[in-house]
Amino acid sequence: MHNIAIIPGDGTGPEVVAEGLKVLEAVSKIYNFEYKTKIFDCGGDRYLLTKETITDAELEELKTFDAIYLGAIGHPDVKPGILEKGILLKTRFALDQYINLRPVALYNKDFCPLKDKTEEDVDFVVVRENSEGLYKGMGEFQNKDTADEVAIQTSYNTRKGIERCIRYAFEFTRKRNKRKKLTLCGKTNVLTYAFDLWQRVFDKVAIEYPDITTDYAHVDATTMWFVKNPEWFDVIVTDNMFGDIITDLGAMVQGGMGIAAGGNINPTGVSMFEPIGGSAPKYTGKNVINPLAAICALSMMLETLKEEKAAGAIEAAVINIVKTKLKSLGAGKMGYSTSEIGDMVVDNLK
Ligand code: IPM
Ligand code: MN
Repeated sequence: MHNIAIIPGDGTGPEVVAEGLKVLEAVSKIYNFEYKTKIFDCGGDRYLLTKETITDAELEELKTFDAIYLGAIGHPDVKPGILEKGILLKTRFALDQYINLRPVALYNKDFCPLKDKTEEDVDFVVVRENSEGLYKGMGEFQNKDTADEVAIQTSYNTRKGIERCIRYAFEFTRKRNKRKKLTLCGKTNVLTYAFDLWQRVFDKVAIEYPDITTDYAHVDATTMWFVKNPEWFDVIVTDNMFGDIITDLGAMVQGGMGIAAGGNINPTGVSMFEPIGGSAPKYTGKNVINPLAAICALSMMLETLKEEKAAGAIEAAVINIVKTKLKSLGAGKMGYSTSEIGDMVVDNLK
């Protein structure tokens, strides 16, 4: 019995989670597994009523589940940062989900904005460090609200934090067994403390993985290669901030936010799976948002729960629909509504 916590969250989060749960119910019947769910109502609406983000009691309770399925966090009436830091980042940190795993796969070349690139060319995974770096929230204002104000934001990188992330990336590259290449994405030419340590740890761990080809790219060059030569990449490991930025670009290269999923992974604890696109307030309640990112996140969750066949069936159904049915992956342009796409995934499960 899989015990799954559901955080529908804000904006279009509840709509896409509903489609994911529809697919979960169908796939559980085909592949004969049982699960139960519990909904957590954290999000902007609750915050506006109670001023609570996510409570310590909720975080403790979340630790008892097998996985967490999240819609989106972010509300137009709440100042930026409060919900993001108070719910999403707090959960990632409290549950020590130190990997943010973001696959970038193109399922239909017609949806790729890059000229002359095909499904074979866009197939890589970003392993984003998810617990440190600039996201640690370290820093200060000096001389606040004066002409001499200074804002300092520190990137915090521990050897242990870097090493566990890099090890995960090497293991993942080996298990993925595609090009068997791991690229460290950094900025060793300017961030000569943080990425010096990243590079040293990377080189040291690499010795243990002679079967993996290693490479290095500066983050600015990485964005260039994503557009120019995405086929050079297999797995990329990078810090929290760079990983945040390059995965939005990755999402565009794979056809858009409508298909981009990710997992906040604690390899020995409770992981949380989410579409990476955010709450998309302007599409809320219109039945036009693309639920495939959330459905792909569900597939990642089932993989982690060792329901590999069910995960594979969902992925195959998504690929089939993206290849043969959809007009676009963008909200309102798919040729189908949110719920029709959920139904189509269910009908395509084998
Ligand atoms: C993401 C998001 C979050 C992040 C925000 C909402 C805090 O952009 O998951 O990529 O920066 O990690
Ligand atoms: Mn982001």
